[in-house]
Amino acid sequence: MSRTDDSSRDDAERAAPSRTLFRRIFAAEPEGVWAAPGRVNLIGEHTDYNDGFVMPFALPQSTYVAARRREDGQVRVHSLFADETVEFAVEALRPGAVEGWAGYVAGMIWSLRTAADVGLTLEGSGDGADGGSDAGGAAPVLGGVDLLIDSTVPHGAGLSSSAALECSVGLAVAELHSVSAEPLTLARLAQRAENDFVGMPCGLMDQMISMLGEPARAVLFDTRSLTPRPVAVGDPAEVEVLVVDTRAPHRLVDGEYAARRSQCERAAAQLGVASLRELSDRDEPVEESLAGLDDELLRRRARHVITENRRVLEAVDLLAAGDVASAGERMTASHRSLRDDYEVTVPETDVAVEALLDAGAHGARITGGGFGGCVVALAPAGMLDRVRSAVRERYAAAGFGEPEVFAASPSAGARRVR
Ligand code: GLA
Repeated sequence: MSRTDDSSRDDAERAAPSRTLFRRIFAAEPEGVWAAPGRVNLIGEHTDYNDGFVMPFALPQSTYVAARRREDGQVRVHSLFADETVEFAVEALRPGAVEGWAGYVAGMIWSLRTAADVGLTLEGSGDGADGGSDAGGAAPVLGGVDLLIDSTVPHGAGLSSSAALECSVGLAVAELHSVSAEPLTLARLAQRAENDFVGMPCGLMDQMISMLGEPARAVLFDTRSLTPRPVAVGDPAEVEVLVVDTRAPHRLVDGEYAARRSQCERAAAQLGVASLRELSDRDEPVEESLAGLDDELLRRRARHVITENRRVLEAVDLLAAGDVASAGERMTASHRSLRDDYEVTVPETDVAVEALLDAGAHGARITGGGFGGCVVALAPAGMLDRVRSAVRERYAAAGFGEPEVFAASPSAGARRVR
């Protein structure tokens, strides 16, 4: 079984056509091509907005941005998947001003331009000629830009195509306007674009891994201290990560996600802690931590978060000890918790998990925000074909559409391609 240990081959294949198309659409030469990856999360779901632990890795599938700086404060952005060009002025950007796919692009530019408003420091003059910052002396003056967007990240599959778009655009625009920002700062600005411009109250996991992903390593993030720690996911000759894209339509995603988030906040407030993470740090049984919570629904939501944080840390230790089978069991336990306590799975994800386990995977779980999307499994190497047929058979029997099944290996985070 061949494994792509980094995304360099894809980068080389994508950069040249991006440049050619850029020339055709904008009648000018791009100054460079930047890329940022999608992600799959191995374990640690719905923990990031509770100050908890996550363990994602960056996929080889990435979003590519060919870009050129403009001096007139205008942005023109063409997306190959939407087959559409959208234009706006940097100075006119306000939350919600641009909608649809281009909202993520506009939001990222708005977030960079107003970084100082939230105390995020960017180095450099940001010497765009006429960006017109009115946000005070510390804000970078961002000029305009022409952008051509191409992507190999499956869209709407729960693999963070939006974070890949935000981070690739952020890196390109910052570099073109001589603004230097730490990867973690760009990740936080990308999250802010999504929270405050697009209106999706996501945590930091997706943007963080898109900026900080590493070849051949998953990354354990403590979303409270914001410290990343690389983690090897077993010997590639023995273990493989498989992803099932259920292609189940996302249902009620945004509203349900926001509802989960506010349930966690209510549970934390009733238990008198700043975040549910504080409870998973305690050396006491989960039911004891939840004793002060009367509401049965909030108890289940909080129980998921507390037990999930513990499962992440256990999985990290088990992987370090070479016990892949037990790490896999933690993933399966995570799925059951997301199904029964957090209620973010759908029949398609549940059937995929059972099919993967029956086919011999060490463990499997829904990955990402839920309500559709993908399932991730840790499996003995060499099982891809068997797993693909097993999952497809079960799907056919259940009357579901045909899923996509592929092997995934940890790859590089956001980067300049050329
Ligand atoms: C989405 C969000 C992340 C995270 C996951 C659930 O992917 O963007 O911040 O909350 O859901 O773990």
